[in-house]
Amino acid sequence: RAHGRFFIGGNWKCNGTVESVTQLVKDLNAGSVPPADKVEIVVAPTFVHLDMVKKTLNPPFEIGAQDCWVGKGGAFTGEVSAEMLHDFGIPWVILGHSERRSLCREDDELVGQKCEYALSQGLKVIGCIGETLAQRESGHMFDVLDAQLRAIANHTSLGNWVNMVIAYEPVWAIGTGVVATPEQAQEAHAYVRKWISDNVSPDVAADLRLLYGGSVNESNCGTLANLEDVDGFLVGGASLQGASFISICNAEN
Ligand code: G3P
Repeated sequence: RAHGRFFIGGNWKCNGTVESVTQLVKDLNAGSVPPADKVEIVVAPTFVHLDMVKKTLNPPFEIGAQDCWVGKGGAFTGEVSAEMLHDFGIPWVILGHSERRSLCREDDELVGQKCEYALSQGLKVIGCIGETLAQRESGHMFDVLDAQLRAIANHTSLGNWVNMVIAYEPVWAIGTGVVATPEQAQEAHAYVRKWISDNVSPDVAADLRLLYGGSVNESNCGTLANLEDVDGFLVGGASLQGASFISICNAEN
């Protein structure tokens, strides 16, 4: 592939019981997925379930957290720090998901700071960006992506981009069953890659994996996986169903 290994993320969001997580891990372990040198697969359970998933989920599946605190741990009730995740053996963290941006009021600058701190602590980051329907319809989509990318880029040193993937998740496609058309996805991804090339470096842009997220399922993943600038997916709802997620992991085949 042009931009490195295909990447599939499963964002479990605020879902799961001991029973359902046990079953999901069992289904994933039993599934047939491409080898790790072809596709990188990362699932992100809740903090509560990280330990059990880490103990029971087999390679090639990797594990990520869904968020972390913006700086060093301490007197921050309810938070989990990047160094804790790293110490615990969690390699990945999702940052700037639209649900955290909208429901937890995380702004672009905070997301940039979170990326910087997580990277400094040795985590790899799935940084999320994406416009709302109102922003798209009012013609502000590229301004929004520009501001979100700029905040992340301002906080990411050149050498740290190897530990970063960017997920484009148009908010109107998240959990709605309305997936971006191939044209919409490719347009946004091409914009992101050009932005990175112009504002970070052409080499970083060429290697950076750009994930699409928003109502990805086993039926639409094949077409999207063929797009030039789509290098993987960040999957929500369908990642909670073992069989669906396994199919999506095989999207390129
Ligand atoms: O992070 C993945 C996500 O926001 C997409 O969710 O349920 O539309 O696949 P979903």
